[in-house]
Amino acid sequence: MSNRIIKGNSSPLKGEITPPGDKSISHRSLMLCSLAKGTSLVRDFLISDDALSTANAMRALGAKIEIKGTQAIVKGNGINGLKKPEKIIDCGNSGTTTRLLIGLLSPQQFTTTLTGDKYLQARPMRRVVDPLTQMGAKITGNEDSNKLPLTITGNNLKAISYKLPVASAQVKSAILLAGMYAEGETEVIEPSASRDHTERMLTYLGVPITKNRNSIKINTISQINPGEIVVPSDISSAAFFIVGALIIPGSEILIKNVGINPLRAGIIDILKNMGGDLEIINQRDVNGEPIGDIVVRSSNLHSTEICGDLIPKTIDELPVVAVAASFAEGKTLIKDAKELRVKETDRIHAMSTELRKLGVQIEEFEDGMSIIGTNSLNGAVCSSWGDHRIAMSIAIAALRAKGEIEIIDADCVSVSYPGFFEVIDELRQ
Ligand code: S3P
Repeated sequence: MSNRIIKGNSSPLKGEITPPGDKSISHRSLMLCSLAKGTSLVRDFLISDDALSTANAMRALGAKIEIKGTQAIVKGNGINGLKKPEKIIDCGNSGTTTRLLIGLLSPQQFTTTLTGDKYLQARPMRRVVDPLTQMGAKITGNEDSNKLPLTITGNNLKAISYKLPVASAQVKSAILLAGMYAEGETEVIEPSASRDHTERMLTYLGVPITKNRNSIKINTISQINPGEIVVPSDISSAAFFIVGALIIPGSEILIKNVGINPLRAGIIDILKNMGGDLEIINQRDVNGEPIGDIVVRSSNLHSTEICGDLIPKTIDELPVVAVAASFAEGKTLIKDAKELRVKETDRIHAMSTELRKLGVQIEEFEDGMSIIGTNSLNGAVCSSWGDHRIAMSIAIAALRAKGEIEIIDADCVSVSYPGFFEVIDELRQ
């Protein structure tokens, strides 16, 4: 566990960066390519703790995955080619690895046990266990099969039509992955649209998916094609520097190759609504995902209200949006975001606690928070709560603080953005 000290001197951010690969797409690329028969190439793959948890899990299940730099070469044995792992699979801190794997393992012909670190062991799993059990899955584990470790005994599954109680791409994906093996047509109905990387990648790899408004359907499949996947830069990682450049006067940065899937890009709309000077240039498509370069210039921000369908489109960025709101004129309101309480940590409580230490006026609600913007932050000793996105959000706030901010347990940034602190140093000149 190591700490970081950031001296808040408000030096402008200047330059050009290409953030690391998208975490959601990296997980899915290894899982789906491991199910293809033949060799796939994943370029610009995210080399981080979470993505490597998926690589290790798929290796344990029989796929051959070689990682060279940021390229992953995946040799899959086909849709029915997974094998029983020799030991318990440790998913580390990664909720996506765990929840998607529970779906994928439910219809296999063998038994697997999944576990994770203390943060992951505290996270709810019934949201995937419930629909999968309705399909015929046999899953047992702690706290009435809600917490890791969970044991999944493979079984023949039957299709269901399932209305998600909350918008969740992880739950949707777990059901779709199980649905590839289930007898009949599986349907997922979403209350509001969540990230659709699974659907896009399945389509790209030749698997038929039907989408009709809020319904997604998949049938039993016999194969997934191998392919070449280029992973865009993660907008969730870019978000820290977008906010950093907006709040520090005199900044101008270019962020390249960013995935701007409309179900992920809520932060762009929110920050534009707050008066942020953001421009997307060079828009193009890679393997069914839209990408672009983002030019960000420092701006005078004002408050906004964030709720409803915008929440799933910006769920992982809300901690750093709270930092932007801390420097915006007026009172920003975030609501309908109860899901933030069950992320890597309770992100509503963590951000309220830490920003308050820096002198921001925050009110915490069950499903969100209100934040009154200010012009200057104090120095303080802050905790990361063991959560990568809390650590990075505090680091960005610290850039405009008066004084020094120490972040305890800051090395958890390696979950999604190894090298994050070095990028700050490069841009801050
Ligand atoms: C993810 C979905 C989201 C997100 C998480 C990654 C994914 O979680 O918060 O970081 O890759 O599917 P939920 O499905 O719980 O909303």
